Amino acid sequence: MEINLIELEPRHAHDLLTSMIIPRPIAWVSTINKMGHTNLAPFSFFTGVSWSPPILAFSVVNRSDGTVKDTVRNIREVPEFVVNIVSVNLLATMEYSAKPIPYGTDETSITDIHWLPSKTIKPRRVQEAKIAFECTLERTVTVTEGPNAGNLILGRIQLVHVGDGLLKNEREVDWFGLDVLGRLSGNRYCTVRSVIESETN
Ligand SMILES: Cc1cc2nc3c(=O)[nH]c(=O)nc-3n(C[C@H](O)[C@H](O)[C@H](O)COP(=O)(O)O)c2cc1C
Repeated sequence: MEINLIELEPRHAHDLLTSMIIPRPIAWVSTINKMGHTNLAPFSFFTGVSWSPPILAFSVVNRSDGTVKDTVRNIREVPEFVVNIVSVNLLATMEYSAKPIPYGTDETSITDIHWLPSKTIKPRRVQEAKIAFECTLERTVTVTEGPNAGNLILGRIQLVHVGDGLLKNEREVDWFGLDVLGRLSGNRYCTVRSVIESETN
């Protein structure tokens, strides 16, 4: 079977694509607007781009009415953000933060999580996240315009926070300790609780 995604109604293409590009880590992004109000939202179109310099990227898709999401709006005003990594125990709070909340509402009022100041940038980070990347905006790549258009945000990692005891050695994080949440599609997620060790690499 062959599928031409562009011929499908956008939500249909979304559902198919997000069930095919799996599993995806979740960038739980904290930003501020010029008034200093904090916004927090999850994005699973998220990956690393390069390590020297260390760059990551996530994609924020415009709402179906063509408006940009608050995360993009804030990054245009204050080009800095924290990418907090989501562990399984943070699922409910992460999902809550994805609900439409009126622009400018300070989301530090979200219960269940606490906030810590960042060292190199103004937006704060989520204390409960076991890994947090402090980033400055490297560039935004705008992919088309209008409804559902993508805004690829590239961030230069200025500092990484790693929870105490989470490094197995100086070069690797303990995956089981991190218990990272992976996104499948819809309200389905996965974990990293079994690891395949190859004998050919
Ligand atoms: C697990 C999860 C992953 C998501 N991934 C994305 C994504 O990659 N891109 C996107 O535009 N929206 C994504 N969303 C939806 C946004 O989080 C949602 O539109 C949110 O309201 C945006 O918030 P903001 O307007 O404060 O930026 C995701 C939602 C969830 C729950």
